[in-house]
Amino acid sequence: MSAPRLTNLGDQFVYELEAVYDMEVKLVEALGELSYMATNDKLSEGFATHRDETKAHVERVESAFQALGREPSRRDNLVVDALLEEKAQYDESVVDDDLRNVHYLTAGMKTERIEISNYEGLLTTAKKAGLGDEVTDPLEENLDDEENALRKLEGLSTGSGLKALWTRLTS
Ligand SMILES: [Fe+2]
Ligand SMILES: [Fe+2]
Repeated sequence: MSAPRLTNLGDQFVYELEAVYDMEVKLVEALGELSYMATNDKLSEGFATHRDETKAHVERVESAFQALGREPSRRDNLVVDALLEEKAQYDESVVDDDLRNVHYLTAGMKTERIEISNYEGLLTTAKKAGLGDEVTDPLEENLDDEENALRKLEGLSTGSGLKALWTRLTS
């Protein structure tokens, strides 16, 4: 496939939206896998909840495409591909469940920060391109969800939720 030619902010917005769409679709499956493989209940439940939210993210990105009068289309998100590859590489090496939980917690926070950066960038481009609320509202809702998910993971890493795990790993 030949590379698209981007000549204005509107083109650029669609280009970026396609990669965000690919990201959300891939994360639905990845979060399901993280939930299944994490052995800490709080972490596992957190990933499962965010997997369900991420299904809604996919639909909201689709509604942004529709508001632009376009069919939703995906462009490979190379950053998410790398995150998934990194997880696969890690899974081959780890032999301790709590080490795995800690690694997934960090990977989860990293992923949310990437999502947040993507949505912030999209919203900046959309506003400069003069796109309407029908396009930006669903993206703002997704951004709110990502920020909440990041806060929850940060709470898990610093709060009492993983106390037993940290005690075991540091004793
Ligand atoms: Fe998301
Ligand atoms: Fe997320």
